[in-house]
Amino acid sequence: MLVTLQEIIAMAEEGGYCIPSFNVYNMETVMGVIDAAEELNAPVILQLYPRLINQECGYYVSPVALAAAQKAKVPVCLHLDHAAGKEEVFKCLRWGFTGIMQDGSSLSFEENVKLTRGAVEMCGVLGIGVEGEIGHVGSVNDEAMEEFTDPQEAKAFVEQTGVCCLAVLVGNAHGHYKKTPNLDIPRVKAIREACGVPLVLHGGTGIPEDQVKAAVAAGVRKFNIGTDVCCSFAEGTKESVNDPNHHLAVDMFMKKPIQTVKEMAMGKIRMTGAEGKA
Ligand code: 13P
Repeated sequence: MLVTLQEIIAMAEEGGYCIPSFNVYNMETVMGVIDAAEELNAPVILQLYPRLINQECGYYVSPVALAAAQKAKVPVCLHLDHAAGKEEVFKCLRWGFTGIMQDGSSLSFEENVKLTRGAVEMCGVLGIGVEGEIGHVGSVNDEAMEEFTDPQEAKAFVEQTGVCCLAVLVGNAHGHYKKTPNLDIPRVKAIREACGVPLVLHGGTGIPEDQVKAAVAAGVRKFNIGTDVCCSFAEGTKESVNDPNHHLAVDMFMKKPIQTVKEMAMGKIRMTGAEGKA
């Protein structure tokens, strides 16, 4: 069942848990995530990087993800992740997406507000909520982490943009962490109290379960997982290649990657408390 970003976040808010949000890349990653969500009766978000949207591949993957969301027995939001500009937002609205992240976090505060408020107004016409970001969540390879999100700045950003949820920088980063992350949980709580909207944690791959649970207790309602989707897919593909009896027919060959993505997704659904909440 296809739902909007604000609807699925409201479910998590009401139940005090978090929606796992998986970056998907192709039909098989979509199938693995949806299989996991249906088996564990959990609401989930399928999200696509703008890179895919801006290449031809998004033209094919988006309808696949949309069809899966519509057919699913559980609530599913189809979300655009990290849109830098308006072009990919327009495309995704046309392609039936039900959630948009407008990411102006590397701009100045004023420019970020301007860009994000524009997206909120445009998407609002279609009844679609927008995720914003304040405090730039970079990559694990960045030299230095930018300053963590400031609660008062987050409050001003939410007031001036009208976003329905907010991505924050609290010790998280995209990719494989070089050492175990140490999330600033009191800051998560302070941001949440100051800005009053559900928070989003990017860089979910490799954050230990106890920290994920503490972040959820402090107000995180959307938890992004990208790298683990890729790794689990690659793992299943290797298993297929190394299986001496593997089938050459591509649909059969892909059964293992779908299964390994499913197992990874089930772990994240349990970790975020979304199991049984659909
Ligand atoms: P990881 O790739 O670190 O899991 O982060 C995904 C993400 O935050 C997508 O926006």
